Amino acid sequence: MLSDKLKEETKANHQILEKRLVSQLKAIRSQQEYANLLKLFYGYFGGLEVKINQAIDKNLLPDNDERRKTQAIADDITALGGDVPAKADCDALPRIKNHLEALGALYVIEGSTLGGKIISKMMQQQLSLDKGLSFFTSYGDNTVTMWDTFKNALDSQAENPEQEAVIIAAANETFFKFGEWFEKAK
Ligand code: HEM
Repeated sequence: MLSDKLKEETKANHQILEKRLVSQLKAIRSQQEYANLLKLFYGYFGGLEVKINQAIDKNLLPDNDERRKTQAIADDITALGGDVPAKADCDALPRIKNHLEALGALYVIEGSTLGGKIISKMMQQQLSLDKGLSFFTSYGDNTVTMWDTFKNALDSQAENPEQEAVIIAAANETFFKFGEWFEKAK
């Protein structure tokens, strides 16, 4: 299955990002520091979302409109009293020129709903927050169901190993460029 291959072949990049994020998250002590982290996510995911929308075939992902959008990050930043930053431009983003590449990037965004649940719990505990958590709360109790539905859609869309390779490469580039985005912000 493509979804299994994606998991396996992006594992190393996920681990690098997760490690980096967990240490950054543990160090967060104020709403402002958390808002700064949200700004990083907004810039990158916001830019990605624009490119994905230009390339994706919406007929093949009928529930795309119901899925979590970066507007939720903007709302969280505003709720915490921060300013919403600009979105990343093309140089900072992966190549997303067609439906398959858009799916690879979307795999990373949708997969981040799983880690998001952990992140929202961490922030709630560390900062006793009652706002600014809508993005990382993901789909709440529906997160696993939404993830399974996404994976099912994904698994029916690559017709051959070459197409699978395009999706996997796009997912890896999406992880990699996110790491670069974090580095640049340091
Ligand atoms: C504190 C940070 C994070 C933690 C603790 C975390 C943790 C997790 C966990 C527990 C899973 C489920 C693994 C499984 O069911 O086998 C997961 C899956 C995933 N996460 Fe993360 N994650 C984090 C950040 C992110 C971020 C920022 C992204 C994307 C930019 C991301 C992308 C993914 C993807 C794509 C999957 C799906 C893997 C699969 O195919 O099953 N994660 N993550």
